[in-house]
Amino acid sequence: MADLVSHPDEMKVVSKRFGQGATDIDRYLALDGYKATQKALTMGADAIISEVKASNLRGRGGAGFPAGMKWSFVPRQSPKPKYVLCNGDESEPGTCKDRLIFEHDPHAVIEGVLIAGIAVGSHQGYIYLRGEYRYLIEIMEKAVADAYGRGFLGKNIFGSGYDFECAVQTGAGAYEVGEESALMESLEGKRGIPRIRPPFPAVVGLYGGPTVINNAETLANVPHIILGGGEWYAHLGTPKNGGTRLFCLSGSVNKPGVYELPMGYNLRKMVDEVAGGIWNGRRLKAVQPGGSSVPVLTADEVDVAMDFDAVMKAGSMLGSGGVVIIDDSTCMVKYALRVMKFYQHESCGWCIPCREGTDWLLKTLVRFHAGGGLRRDIHNIQYLAENMLGRTFCPLGDAAAMPIISLVKKFRKEFEDHLEGKPCPYEDHSKVEQLPVLTAWDHRTADPWTHAH
Ligand SMILES: Cc1cc2nc3c(=O)[nH]c(=O)nc-3n(C[C@H](O)[C@H](O)[C@H](O)COP(=O)(O)O)c2cc1C
Ligand code: SF4
Repeated sequence: MADLVSHPDEMKVVSKRFGQGATDIDRYLALDGYKATQKALTMGADAIISEVKASNLRGRGGAGFPAGMKWSFVPRQSPKPKYVLCNGDESEPGTCKDRLIFEHDPHAVIEGVLIAGIAVGSHQGYIYLRGEYRYLIEIMEKAVADAYGRGFLGKNIFGSGYDFECAVQTGAGAYEVGEESALMESLEGKRGIPRIRPPFPAVVGLYGGPTVINNAETLANVPHIILGGGEWYAHLGTPKNGGTRLFCLSGSVNKPGVYELPMGYNLRKMVDEVAGGIWNGRRLKAVQPGGSSVPVLTADEVDVAMDFDAVMKAGSMLGSGGVVIIDDSTCMVKYALRVMKFYQHESCGWCIPCREGTDWLLKTLVRFHAGGGLRRDIHNIQYLAENMLGRTFCPLGDAAAMPIISLVKKFRKEFEDHLEGKPCPYEDHSKVEQLPVLTAWDHRTADPWTHAH
């Protein structure tokens, strides 16, 4: 079990039962568990959706789409069964919050799925867990079995006449199946690659039926909204960004961990106070405020309110809540290389700009970082990344390109400092970790930028 951290500025809503033994269903019931579902059954679909809309709850999986609006897109009448999916794939580097919800408050996720089901008229939910989270499967399966045992799932839940089934499923360890349509393919037993949209899942989703898919944190907030009211929840955050957020503070800080803070909390304060400041007496160099997919903010840009709109205005994205904090001993070319290594590995290979783009970017960055860089590579890295934007079937191509574009733009000097034909000038070479791939890359024959010369 992961250690829990705390800070006086935390505002505990979705984490309020963490460390309280709420995996036990009796304990969960003693902590107001399943009251929200019973209330939702008396409210009915329209009132639930209105309450979630009023809460300004936005998707915690990355895109920040308003949850109530998403639910309202599901057609009332459907010849096919409707589904609710909980996305617990959580594979974005820097993001480690959904696992805490499953670990400490699994019934809150089940309640979120149930309430979403009642809201859209679905009778089947799936909780999809990241393949590597093996230890969570047991916790979630037990929670689901306990809920069935009490009559909270299955036929005639709470004696209401409403039926709702729920099952737990796992992935096999691919980042791409966190993408909603790839997750549905995977759940149907197929290869986890995305679907072309439209049609969108709310109309044609799992097994062709209307489907609501939400992140685990999004869903775990719903019972609190139903009990506390949409207006209460909205006021915890900033306009159009209701509630709190589980921020995963990681990287070069003294007190890394997952902290629940109100939406709009200042990023600099998050680094300096909540995360205990930069470690080893170093200085802040940059932050990726929303996981590895988003543009970096420099140390001068971190006076920003952490909500979806303010971070977007500052030139980045709030994303999945993974706040990666980078100190001044980090080589940003190496950082770019690290990020690209992940995306090159995780590209599903379906579309060319992503499959080839991530591969060429990785090859070029490895060569560049190892001292084989040419001045024109700097332009070419940026040019290649920019040409991936918006040209792929799913947003993984954008996710790979966006951080690289920002790194070249904001840390160009560090790229230029690598041009002397020497290995990285920012690293202590006695300590440099050997990268397992491509370190001895022959740039004269192996990448497109040097090929012609
Ligand atoms: C490559 C990729 C990976 C993703 N991984 C996740 C994930 O692990 N968990 C998640 O909730 N959303 C993930 N998403 C976002 C989902 O596609 C989808 O937007 C989200 O599950 C919707 O839930 P929300 O509205 O509650 O955020 C990913 C998207 C992409 C493009
Ligand atoms: S962008 Fe990448 S991950 Fe997404 S479909 Fe294309 S190849 Fe696959």
